[in-house]
Amino acid sequence: MSIAYFNGDYLPLDQVRISPLDRGFLFGDSVYEVIPSYAGEFFMLPAHLERLDRSLAAIRILSPFDAGQWTALLEDLLARNADPATPDLGVYLQVTRGVAPRDHAFPPDARPTVLAMVSPIRPLPEAVRTEGVAAVTAEDRRWGHCDIKATTLLANVLNRQAAVEQGAVEAILLRDGQLTEGAASNVLVVLDGRLVTPPLAPSVLPGVTRSRVLDLARELGYPVEECAVSESELARAEEIWLTSSTREILPVTRLNDRVVGAGHPGPVWKALHAAYQAAKPGAPVSEPMQSGGAA
Ligand code: PDD
Repeated sequence: MSIAYFNGDYLPLDQVRISPLDRGFLFGDSVYEVIPSYAGEFFMLPAHLERLDRSLAAIRILSPFDAGQWTALLEDLLARNADPATPDLGVYLQVTRGVAPRDHAFPPDARPTVLAMVSPIRPLPEAVRTEGVAAVTAEDRRWGHCDIKATTLLANVLNRQAAVEQGAVEAILLRDGQLTEGAASNVLVVLDGRLVTPPLAPSVLPGVTRSRVLDLARELGYPVEECAVSESELARAEEIWLTSSTREILPVTRLNDRVVGAGHPGPVWKALHAAYQAAKPGAPVSEPMQSGGAA
């Protein structure tokens, strides 16, 4: 049984007890983060902690810890879950407004509930790297603050389930004919040779992976644009990718049962996937190229 952190204690996950009066449970009155770690080291932790602070401030929960305290707590959790069989772990961290008699308005004196737990991150299966995955489009009917990483995810859950029932791994959401993001991922497309993704707005979560992938693409010299993507542009994109902390960069090769681009993961995805793998903690340092034969 993995070890979780719950309100000051480290204990086996199945011993954590959440109150029925916890506002995270009753109202979804809480925010969360999913933070990847590789070989025992966090990847882009400061960016996740900054987003956590923004989410907490947006829903007016006073952060119970500063960045140094969060880091110490999460590193302790990783160390307690160290296991060579699962070297790469995603940490799920949730902060709720706390426990109080049920009433929609904020309780005057509730103490935030903090839960952190881990689950393994598995490398992309060979079949995904060679064949890609399927996605479907769906109408984005979520609320107006999708830039807050809130646990209130019913619309995302229903969209993802509908995708799974159609044999796909993700629902790509469209609002007024424009791409927003996936049910649990950001969406990037290669369109006319440029890497394009919708700009940050209240309809899009500012994905940490999205931001890192855009930086890597710029470093590699690809033209990058953050601008609106219409439904018809999505339909004719040369490549479509889903990015998230747990799934990294997933190449979509079928959209609504139509082939995307050439029908297999494209050349720009291959370059960015390789760059992302090389950026992760514990990545093997690439050997300098040997010049042919002995001197
Ligand atoms: N979700 N958009 C949505 C709606 C998401 O839920 C996520 C991630 C992302 C990607 O963000 P990031 O690159 O920072 O992980 C975009 C997490 C992984 C989840 O809910 O499990």
